[in-house]
Amino acid sequence: MLGNKALKSTLFVSMLTLAGLTLSFQASAACDLVSTKDGSPLVIKAVDTDTPQAKEFLATCINPYTKAFAKDPEAAKAGKKKFGYYSCTQCHGPNGGGQVGPNINDSTWQYSKHVTDKGIFETIAGGSNGGMFAWHNQLGNPENLATDDILKITAWLRTQYKGGGDTPWLNETPKK
Ligand code: HEC
Repeated sequence: MLGNKALKSTLFVSMLTLAGLTLSFQASAACDLVSTKDGSPLVIKAVDTDTPQAKEFLATCINPYTKAFAKDPEAAKAGKKKFGYYSCTQCHGPNGGGQVGPNINDSTWQYSKHVTDKGIFETIAGGSNGGMFAWHNQLGNPENLATDDILKITAWLRTQYKGGGDTPWLNETPKK
């Protein structure tokens, strides 16, 4: 016989399950990336080899490295290393100060959306009409950058920012 107590606890457990389902549904929400070239959807999927940080970004549009690197210059060097490894330096200079390509650590952004990490990610990952290639490894060369590499580079670039004024990328909140 199912007593009143047992019934209550069954109800409680099913409520918990429901809450759990709602949570996991929210966790699978996606950051809707768009191409800098034409505003069309930029399709980058979470893959098994992605770091937790990469998965978090693809779900929330927030780059977890940005705040972490701001507090930890030692950790930020991981982004600088990738910037050199993938030869971004050839066009942007060793610290992003600009050479053939534009300065990327002043307050003059090529696209206004570059004040967000999502915006910068979209340009690095998917390229632009003004001379940036699509660097994401899901968009051509598998030897190119993974989501995590782009996030580390972006977060390091933020630590190099010399433009003064607001630094909105340090105050971004998850979408919705
Ligand atoms: C062949 C030269 C070249 C290389 C290599 C290159 N870039 Fe660029 N980059 C450019 C140009 C040109 C622009 C301006 C694009 C535009 O205005 O559409 C740009 C723009 C950018 C911007 C936006 C700058 C701003 O002020 O808004 C970022 C960020 C950036 N590049 C990061 C990178 C990263 C990271 C790499 C390496 C993975 C890289 N670039 C490699 C030429 C290059």
